[in-house]
Amino acid sequence: MVVGVIKETKEFEKRVALSPDVVKLLKKKEFEVIVEAGAGEGSYFSDQDYVDAGAKVGSASEVYGADVLLKVNLFTLEEIARMKNGGACISYMYAYQFPDVLDAMNKKSISSFSMDAVPRISRAQKMDALSSQANLAGYKSVILGANYLGKIFPLMMTASGTITPAKVLIFGAGVAGLQAIATAKRLGAIVEVSDVRPETKEQVESLGGRFLTVEGAETVKIEGGYAKEVSAEFLEKQQKLIRDKIKDADLVITTALVMGKKSPILVTEDMVKSMKTGSVIVDMAVESGGNCAISEKNKTVVKHGVTLVGESNLPSLLPVNASQLYATNISTLLLHLATKDGFALDLTEEITKGVLITHQGELVHEFTKSIINK
Ligand code: NAI
Repeated sequence: MVVGVIKETKEFEKRVALSPDVVKLLKKKEFEVIVEAGAGEGSYFSDQDYVDAGAKVGSASEVYGADVLLKVNLFTLEEIARMKNGGACISYMYAYQFPDVLDAMNKKSISSFSMDAVPRISRAQKMDALSSQANLAGYKSVILGANYLGKIFPLMMTASGTITPAKVLIFGAGVAGLQAIATAKRLGAIVEVSDVRPETKEQVESLGGRFLTVEGAETVKIEGGYAKEVSAEFLEKQQKLIRDKIKDADLVITTALVMGKKSPILVTEDMVKSMKTGSVIVDMAVESGGNCAISEKNKTVVKHGVTLVGESNLPSLLPVNASQLYATNISTLLLHLATKDGFALDLTEEITKGVLITHQGELVHEFTKSIINK
């Protein structure tokens, strides 16, 4: 089986789907690998590094001849036009948002597998790119926020006076949020956290954060490790709590996500106005609409004296680690789906069923269908 690695074309993208280390691993399993020239540049992997690992390096046209194509970002319509009929591809897809891409794939009978659809079960942890990338993004959100802040994080007692620790407020204690808590604590901040899932309280506290409990609200519906629905009553009570806390915060990091839905607005413009001049908000959910009403995607802006960071691709700011981890995730999924002789799909198996989006000219992914046909 020949595995092709396509160079990313999306703006600001520095990651690559396979690292040289993972090429070596695939070669050991007797897969052939062909990498588009320059694909690893953004992650500081040279063409020679791939050749040394056992891959061929070739032009885009040569790579499109592979049996399965790997990318980080969704294949574009132009890229699909270059794919062979009946081919296969693996990348992030967020398929429910791109019915036109799914149509184009179906017209060519392309089997597509989506990295963002890997089920959050223990068996699939090594394939879970959303988690590996969110973890790095959570770290970077704090580093970036700290950089914009005119203050330090830790308590410092010096001959010239005592500096009090920075206050960091984090919304969402999932993968990104927990890493953000750990990072902010390591730097010495006081960290407060709000999440709708009560079980996160223990995790937050184990990292040294303070959990903000929304009193009297019923618990949220959880499905597959994700918050599914948050009631209006909960959000109202949470808003009241946030309004009180946000006035004192130096850095706010928002990571609240409800799978398949637009992100909940947790920080309104009025709340931003109530914040201290010079404070910072990093809105990690900016790609899916944002948790802050006035943050802007891929921009850092100052509004009402507050710096609003809307970076939608934080993992790409750490391309070396992000590519290494993504390569492990995608290759583990590939090895789950295929052998050196080709794909061996069991369409009833949970992971395969979870990631397969289009197959034999049809949209086969139930969750994607349910959103598109709404
Ligand atoms: P996750 O699903 O592990 O965590 C999300 C958390 O938000 C869950 O714990 C959930 O209970 C919580 N949540 C839902 N509604 C809430 C509410 N109203 N208030 C407080 N908490 C609430 O997701 P993960 O992987 O940690 O990602 C978090 C966000 O960061 C997502 O929006 C994701 O798209 C984004 N992200 C952004 C990146 C970037 O570069 N900007 C990179 C990676 C992830």
